[in-house]
Amino acid sequence: MARTYEAEGARQFTMEFSDPHKRIEPLDREIEVVDAGLQLLVAAGVLTHADYDGDRLLAHRAAVAEHFEIPWTAITHRMQRLIWSINAISQPRVMVAVGVFCGNTFISNAGAAVGPGATYTADRLVGLEIRPEEADRARRNVGTIDPEGRAEILGEDGIEWLRRFDGTIDLLYLDADGPAGIGKSIYLKMVQAAEPVLRPGSLVLAHNSVNAAASLADYLAYMRDPANFRESVNMIVDDQGLEVSQR
Ligand SMILES: C[S@@+](CC[C@H](N)C(=O)[O-])C[C@H]1O[C@@H](n2cnc3c(N)ncnc32)[C@H](O)[C@@H]1O
Repeated sequence: MARTYEAEGARQFTMEFSDPHKRIEPLDREIEVVDAGLQLLVAAGVLTHADYDGDRLLAHRAAVAEHFEIPWTAITHRMQRLIWSINAISQPRVMVAVGVFCGNTFISNAGAAVGPGATYTADRLVGLEIRPEEADRARRNVGTIDPEGRAEILGEDGIEWLRRFDGTIDLLYLDADGPAGIGKSIYLKMVQAAEPVLRPGSLVLAHNSVNAAASLADYLAYMRDPANFRESVNMIVDDQGLEVSQR
């Protein structure tokens, strides 16, 4: 079933990509928007509850702001909270993120299991980035808050890696941007490569469900077809959006 959560004014809620740590709304409003979205995910059966440790999220946020080198990002504080809380609540044993760039999106997921915001212990946290220099930067960034190296950043093509992966992925995060002419439509290839290793109940989070809806049309149609995924919710918390789908 396909559903939508849309916070009031969310499509106009944007950030300065070069200044990701600047607060652009009161914290209470950020919490209100995300918590209402989590309630819808509970009603849809995607999450079992909507409780998370907000202080841990803020500890995670502060550590990323202090230690990460982020040339730019479109991850708003709302989106960071949404992604982190979905991970903190669902506690994936194996989380895989594809197209992690400098590591900020990866750690928005993995930060629920490593670093000062950790709320559980995962078995495997994998970030895939096809550009070697960005994978190196992501590894350096993640290493600042995960000195034991529990999270892995691999400089590889995510599609090939997913095809080879022999195990179960509990949460897959998609944020890759394919070459010219393909762009975000690469998500469909990626989720199809991962399908054999998703279990019933596995979550797939896809960034840019709003601003890249046109190039994601094939992906969104696939995920919203109950023949393929049990549930899919377009979480419009900001002008980028996150499609949250459940196998
Ligand atoms: C533009 S970034 C995403 C940025 C993110 N939305 C943010 O706001 O911080 C997308 C990344 O996907 C990577 N990418 C593209 N194709 C990929 C693939 N096949 N496997 C892994 N990474 C890939 C690109 O190199 C790029 O760093």
